[in-house]
Amino acid sequence: MVAGELRDALGVDGSPTDGGVEFVADLGVLWSAVSTLRTPESIRVRIASFVASDFDTLSARLARAPWHAYLAGRDANVRVVCHKSKLYHSGAVEERARAALAATRLPHKPGADVHIRLSHDRVTVSVDATGEPAHRRGLRDRIVPGAMRETLAAAAIRAAGLGAVSSVWDPFCGAGTLGFEWLAAAAQLPTFGARELAMERWPSVRGSLPARVAYEPSVAASATASRGLRWYGADRSVAAVAAACANAEALGVGAACLVATGDFEVCANSVPDGTAVFSNLPYGKRVTGGVDDSLRRLGQLLRRRPDLRPAVFVHAHEDLAVRLGIPGERLASFSNRGIRVHLTRFTS
Ligand SMILES: C[S@@+](CC[C@H](N)C(=O)[O-])C[C@H]1O[C@@H](n2cnc3c(N)ncnc32)[C@H](O)[C@@H]1O
Repeated sequence: MVAGELRDALGVDGSPTDGGVEFVADLGVLWSAVSTLRTPESIRVRIASFVASDFDTLSARLARAPWHAYLAGRDANVRVVCHKSKLYHSGAVEERARAALAATRLPHKPGADVHIRLSHDRVTVSVDATGEPAHRRGLRDRIVPGAMRETLAAAAIRAAGLGAVSSVWDPFCGAGTLGFEWLAAAAQLPTFGARELAMERWPSVRGSLPARVAYEPSVAASATASRGLRWYGADRSVAAVAAACANAEALGVGAACLVATGDFEVCANSVPDGTAVFSNLPYGKRVTGGVDDSLRRLGQLLRRRPDLRPAVFVHAHEDLAVRLGIPGERLASFSNRGIRVHLTRFTS
């Protein structure tokens, strides 16, 4: 999904790897990727790659890395992962990296995160360009148990194929993450607020990066209004609804959101015909009872209201289509906080 966004948004072909996507970019494309993509957690720049099976080679090569271009200070967080390498002691590798940083004569101040990975004796050194992980975009400040990461919500929206619908209902909305990410995607709102991204602190580019458009609640309000976007949320938890409403106000999209407290089936009465459904269903592990009943009633509702389509769910139920009693298409499977979940789309 990250590779897809990279290609669609920036025209860059990346290679999916285990847990990431590798791509080659000039500074301008890198900046666009860091400041506008919605699905990656973070983007790192590989500043060195070499083979080292002893500490002398490791130290010598680390000393030659172009730290000055990326680090404003030498108190960087250094994270090391060793995998099937002769140098297997991550603490000792980190020590060598700290020595290399100390030798740079950079001032002592907190810098960026440095990631060192050893795999089969190949050492890759990367510097974080995003800063705080993107799932802490800081735009949605209230969450509830079971809240989704914004990055995962953004990926699910890309894969869901909701099309150009102008209204969406989330019957189990929690703090509203899916709704806000849908509104942001549909109204083409900026990914980040005013917080500084790590790349903006790099000495080599500071002051020379093109200006970035930051998320602005008043702009979000007019962009969602002019497109006639409407998001309906429902949750039986009063605390969840309070969080969703507070988030909507903070994001400037309060007027585009209608959030109801109560059981989804009752709340469905105020959802207009032709509204798409997009929701993260309650997980069995989290809800002590009633999930089976909720799914059975959700199936009845969807069969009674064929206008509520497409209906797309992030869920942990292998047999969701059977439980709902309607045929569905599984679009993707992935891990959400350690739970195996699926994205399934119902159109009939
Ligand atoms: C997995 S969480 C949704 C999290 C949400 N996507 C977010 O990011 O915050 C499921 C939510 O469903 C709500 N819920 C469970 N059963 C419900 C029911 N019968 N009617 C309405 N809400 C219900 C729970 O209170 C919980 O907030």
